[in-house]
This record gives sequence, structure tokens and C-alpha cells, in this order.
Amino acid sequence: MTERSFADRVGRVSPSATLAISNKAATLEADGVDVVDLSVGEPDFDTPEAIKDAANEALAAGETGYTPSNGIPPLREAIAEKFAADGLDFYGPENVVVTPGGKQALFELFQTLVDTGDEVVLFDPAWVSYEAMVKLADGTPVHVDTARHDFALEPALDDLAEAVTDQTKLLVLNSPGNPHGCIYSEKALEGVRDLAVDYDITVISDEIYDQITYTDEALPRIGTLDGMADRTLTVNGFSKAYAMTGWRLGYYGAPESIVEQAGKIHSHSVSCATSFVQHAGVTALREVDEEVEEMVDAFAERREFLLSAFADHGVDVVEPQGAFYMMVPVSEDDQQWCDDAISDAHVATVPGSAFGTPGYARLSYANSKERLGEALDRLDEYGLI
Ligand SMILES: Cc1ncc(COP(=O)(O)O)c(C=O)c1O
Repeated sequence: MTERSFADRVGRVSPSATLAISNKAATLEADGVDVVDLSVGEPDFDTPEAIKDAANEALAAGETGYTPSNGIPPLREAIAEKFAADGLDFYGPENVVVTPGGKQALFELFQTLVDTGDEVVLFDPAWVSYEAMVKLADGTPVHVDTARHDFALEPALDDLAEAVTDQTKLLVLNSPGNPHGCIYSEKALEGVRDLAVDYDITVISDEIYDQITYTDEALPRIGTLDGMADRTLTVNGFSKAYAMTGWRLGYYGAPESIVEQAGKIHSHSVSCATSFVQHAGVTALREVDEEVEEMVDAFAERREFLLSAFADHGVDVVEPQGAFYMMVPVSEDDQQWCDDAISDAHVATVPGSAFGTPGYARLSYANSKERLGEALDRLDEYGLI
């Protein structure tokens, strides 16, 4: 057989580290082993009934064809209203693009803005796919560490000032953040804003966990700051807040010039997001609050449970303020720790090094308290905590 050659771009990226863990968990489970899976980034709840009903109704009404590429008008209007309620009132429906998942929104934005040699700043630990997306767009990721400041952004601003150059095209913020659950303060965002304006940098604000927070304060959003409306691209989606990971529905808001250019990537790749799913999205945004609150309350309770259990074990964990992950300090060789955790204790976690921060394991608490307790017992039994 002739040797197949592949494009350089696929050689630049590795398969998702979370996928490798899930595969290992699946292999063990296939052998009858009971694995407590704390590696997954998805709510353990079913999608709220009203959303499912809306999808069924849309299907019954024959909503099965292509939609306008950027999304059906009622959904773009509902999204623009959500943006306005969050203080991002400069995104009208014409600034909104509906995508099959937030991931696709991010992918399209990187493809649209990043050229060879362009630098993209990521704050480590950073969600695994940002770096891959930058590389797939021929860009150069530039990492700014926040781990040594307990994942806070403000103390890392000096490092950020050193990291930005005339080649810096984009900067990615994710607050509340995966994998650490921290929320960036308004003051920190102001510091980022000052640099973004000085260096003419566009900012992607990934706000996919914005509805899952454990504070009473409004979430600081960089787009609301003076001087940022025209340079902020806000990404969001339905997967996390509405337990809709498999539906694949997300969106972004951006200045019209970007919507126009990114629209080429969107229409030539996915055409549009799934039609009846978009109708369900309208119902999610307009009618589903209570279930979101219930899910957030459940996450909050599990977070408390884990934090106090780790404190009892003398493990000092930075309190997450949002999302449903925490970064637990483990041994320096976090890969080995995670390997032992899954092989011996049958607890699946993701090594911090997958997010650019060795020495930690990311635990997702999108799992019942009973299972979280079981995981802790097992980690304890094998001397891992
Ligand atoms: C930080 C972050 N952004 C974006 C996404 C993409 O989510 P989806 O494509 O399901 O909307 C995820 C999913 O894990 C995430 O953690």
C-alpha cells in the first residue's frame, strides 16, 4: 500500500487528552469494572422537558430543512436579548451567528482571524481545544501562567504585558474557566482591556459557563468595558447551562465585519446549525430558568462536599466560583497520578498538564454526591489523597 501523507496541520495537534481518559474508562467498563468518571465536561442531568418538547414540536411541524446560515431569526433575537441582559447590548441579531456548539463558534473565529505567525494569548491552565484551534489556524499560542497565582488573572497582568507583542492578534478569556472554575475580576479585565486597546488586540470571551456560578455578584464580562465593544467576540452555548451537550448548539456575537467574513467559513463548512435544535434553543433561552437554577444548586452542593472532603484530607484546593470543575493539586507527575487513579482506584480524572499546568488533576463534579464520595474513598484507599 502506498504510504499516505497528511497535511502538516493535523501533525501539529494531538488527540484530546480527555478523549484518551474516556477511552481508558470505557475499556475498563467494558471489562465489567465500575469506574467513577470525573473526567467528563458535561452535566449529568437530562435536558429539561420543555426544551425536548420544543424540539419534538418543531419536528412535528416539519422544521427539518436548512435554515438561514447564521441561524433562525427568533433564535438570533433571543440571543441578542440575552446579550443585552448581560450588558452586551451592542450585539443585535445581525451580530449573532448560531453554530453547532460553542466549539464550532470558536473554531470559525480562529480560522477567520488568525494567520501564519499571528500570536494568540492563552491563560494557563486553558481548556484543551484552544491551543489545538490556534495551531489548526497556523497561529502561535503564547501562554501566560495563572496557576502560580491560584488561577487569578490580576496578578498575572505583568506577565501578560510581557507576553503581548505587535504580533499578538487575539487573546482568549474563559471565565468562569475550564479547568479551574475561577472568575476573573472586573479589575483584571480592565487590565486586559488596557493592553488590548494599546496593542489593537481582539479578545475572544468564552462565556459558556456564565450561568453556572456560585456567587451573588454579576459576572464581569470584558465586552461591557469601555473600548471593548468593537474588539470583543463573545462565545456561548447551550451545552452546559441547559444540559444539551449532544444537541450541538452554540453561538457567538461579533462586530458585523467579522460576522461577514466568518460567515464564509460557517456556510462552507456546516451550512447551519440543526433546524429543530435551533427552535428548542429559543425555548431554552426564553422559558427555562428554574431547571438551570436547580442544576446549579446541585453543582454548588457537590462543590461544597468536595471542598470540605479535600480540606479534611489536608488537600488545599482553590475554590471554584463557577463551572463544575476543580483543579486538585496532586504529585508533580500528574500523568502518573491520573494513570494510577484510573488503573488502581478506577477513578477517571484529567491531568493538569493537558491544560498546560502539571501538578494538578482536573475533577469534574458533574456527578452525584454518592459517586463523588465513592471516588474520594477509593483515592484515599490507594493513598492518592
Ligand atoms: C471552555 C469551553 N468552551 C467551549 C466548550 C464547547 O462546548 P460545546 O461545543 O459543547 O458548546 C467547552 C466544552 O467543554 C468548554 O469547556
